[in-house]
Amino acid sequence: MKNIIWIKEYSVEIKEIDEQHQHFFSVLNELNTAIYAGKEKEWMGHVFDQLDGYARFHFATEEKLFDSVKYEYTDAHIEKHDEFRKKLEEFRRGFEISKEGISGELVKFLEEWFVEHIMKVDKMYTKTFHDHGIF
Ligand SMILES: [Fe+2]
Ligand SMILES: [Fe+2]
Repeated sequence: MKNIIWIKEYSVEIKEIDEQHQHFFSVLNELNTAIYAGKEKEWMGHVFDQLDGYARFHFATEEKLFDSVKYEYTDAHIEKHDEFRKKLEEFRRGFEISKEGISGELVKFLEEWFVEHIMKVDKMYTKTFHDHGIF
């Protein structure tokens, strides 16, 4: 099993946000550990709850900051968050129906989505936040 490591290239240079992103990687590794231990069925409900809570909390943090700085790409960014929420819901439904076979796919989706979102979408706000004194 390969742990998913947060590297400094993922930093958006906003302390609170980096910490939340790092937390996401630890949830992902918990899921990975559960799969490796053959405990995915017992753990998946817990993992989905964590991911839901995380998505709500983290996206709300970013979206509140967008408001406070009148970030110009707010709508496009929120659309990406909505896509994630929808996709996560689909995975949860898939798991509730079949109870298996999706966890590897879910990890792959989460890792790819998150890395790409941080690198291509989140990083776009760094300059605007810094300009408003948010570091
Ligand atoms: Fe983010
Ligand atoms: Fe984001």
